[in-house]
Amino acid sequence: MTHEKVMKTFEPEQKDDSVTITITITKGGIYLKMKIVLEDFQSYKQERMRVMSEIVILSGSPSESSRSDLVLKYIGSLLKKEGFIVTHISIRDVPHEALFYGKFNDPAIENVASLIQGAKGVVVGSPVYKAAYSGVLKALLDLLPQDVLQGTPVLPLMTGGSPSHLLAIEYTLKPLLATLKGQNLKGVYLLDSQIDKRQIDNPIVQNEILDRLKKQLYYFVETVNRQKNAVL
Ligand SMILES: Cc1cc2nc3c(=O)[nH]c(=O)nc-3n(C[C@H](O)[C@H](O)[C@H](O)COP(=O)(O)O)c2cc1C
Repeated sequence: MTHEKVMKTFEPEQKDDSVTITITITKGGIYLKMKIVLEDFQSYKQERMRVMSEIVILSGSPSESSRSDLVLKYIGSLLKKEGFIVTHISIRDVPHEALFYGKFNDPAIENVASLIQGAKGVVVGSPVYKAAYSGVLKALLDLLPQDVLQGTPVLPLMTGGSPSHLLAIEYTLKPLLATLKGQNLKGVYLLDSQIDKRQIDNPIVQNEILDRLKKQLYYFVETVNRQKNAVL
């Protein structure tokens, strides 16, 4: 008995909202071609991301080369090392029109809300702008449900140019997160002089500051894990 070779080829093709996979199986002179179309692929991806996200990091700087965003990405890398699935949302990725015209029902806004609602913990970062959080971060939070952070541990983080606005985290960001029913942890305030934009992997320059940040972060991790285990 001779074994003829079976040839299979897979050709995935991704379009905006669907994926078509063409499978061709060839044996002898005969070939079978199958086409599988996965419709609504973006929704599938978003749903999968929502189910999988344990920690959401919300980055509130509109700046293209943002210090706070760099620190938040570093925090994300530490959380991944702790075994968490992390989703990083930058305000820059939210459609401007939705923010400017207050489009509560925009799919991107609904997706952010659902990611945050599904998270076990949330890190919210913002630069200090005129002694408070950034306006664009507020524009986004205004569009989310009133209790979007209900019972969720939240680690607030702010970066500022001056130590004189250290209390912006206490008087502006924390009350805002508490209004959304978040469980605020102590949080971290970093000065521009403590962040080196050239060091992408770890932008925190001084060891003392890095230790302070890690202490807060591991307390956040402990709180999230405690709540996760209490639910299981
Ligand atoms: C419009 C604007 C307003 C700012 N206002 C303040 C302020 O009131 N107090 C302060 O300490 N720093 C202030 N800064 C400095 C930023 O908070 C600081 O550079 C921060 O790290 C920027 O973060 P980012 O790079 O993530 O946007 C301001 C910067 C800008 C662009």
